Amino acid sequence: VTDGASKSSASPETLSWVGGKAGHLRLIDQTLLPGQLAFVDCDRVETVWEAIQALRVRGAPAIGIAAAYGVYLGVRQANVTDETAFFDRLDEVISYLGSSRPTAVNLYWALQRVREAAAAQQGPSVSDLQDGLLEEARRMHAEDRQICRTIGHVGADLLPDGSGVLTHCNAGGLATSEYGTALAVIFAAQDQGKQLQVFVDETRPLLQGARLTAWELLQRRIPAILICDSMAAQVMREGRVQLVVTGADRIVANGDVANKIGTYGLAVLAAAHKIPFYVAAPRSTFDLSLSSGEDIPIEQRSPREVTHGFGRSTAPADVRVYNPAFDVTPARYIQAIVTECGLIQPVSAQRIREVIGQHHSGT
Ligand code: MRU
Repeated sequence: VTDGASKSSASPETLSWVGGKAGHLRLIDQTLLPGQLAFVDCDRVETVWEAIQALRVRGAPAIGIAAAYGVYLGVRQANVTDETAFFDRLDEVISYLGSSRPTAVNLYWALQRVREAAAAQQGPSVSDLQDGLLEEARRMHAEDRQICRTIGHVGADLLPDGSGVLTHCNAGGLATSEYGTALAVIFAAQDQGKQLQVFVDETRPLLQGARLTAWELLQRRIPAILICDSMAAQVMREGRVQLVVTGADRIVANGDVANKIGTYGLAVLAAAHKIPFYVAAPRSTFDLSLSSGEDIPIEQRSPREVTHGFGRSTAPADVRVYNPAFDVTPARYIQAIVTECGLIQPVSAQRIREVIGQHHSGT
């Protein structure tokens, strides 16, 4: 871990590739924010795997980009000399990285994309094949910047001037290359001159809302009010929220959406208060190979995240814990999905196919 405080700039990069072919992946260590801005330098695939698993890098699109660079690192460190060994090692690294976190389909989308890019190279040397992996990762990284901007542009009109907006977890620049998905919509509306009041769910148990979203909003001088997750119903009842917007980790063919645990509850609350609930996500978050949200694998995480939040025990030592990291919001609760391909409204299988096409299958 490199102490990045001395290198900090107004908006540090969530991920960056440092140097050329012999270079390394640098990530903001998001577990240390907002108290410390520090970086993890990865020159081995094991470091990338650990960074994804431990949520040093997190958020569906950022996980995918980190994994793509991780593939290059994993193949590079093996020093393979012939094509068969290259593809054997490539498949080994892809399957290893695929075991880091199961829910965000962007991970599998990215791994599949680098695999296909390597397979499409006709008769090159092993060193060309290897270079091709880095180029593909860099391409995905650059494309994500553009995609996030477009999502912001597509979604900004959904936010009326003067509205109260509620968001959950972190779907901002830290969850992507930069700019984000749900937060991109908010940033773009702000750029149109709209005045917004953003309520930020703290997002138990790991506080991505409190630690990351509040930090990003304050950096952009957007009025942010932090609330505990359990306060959302009361805040809606008081009429302070006119819409909800969140990101997504996997959206399946019928429009069901997996996102950070607590999202489903918010969607139900929004319906009860007749408040529109929006999701913003890139095409790479869609998994049209699954027909319903029932089939989405839900990551289960350590009980300690619930019993020992940030270093202190807050529950009896022997209590049993259930800690699913994501939940599934049924499509019927979602007013629209904002993508770089356009707005999906209504959220139906047919409209998803029209906007997203038969884009890709998941795992
Ligand atoms: O466990 P995390 O922090 O990776 O969960 C992140 C989310 O749930 C985000 O909302 C989602 O990945 C979308 S990020 C643009």
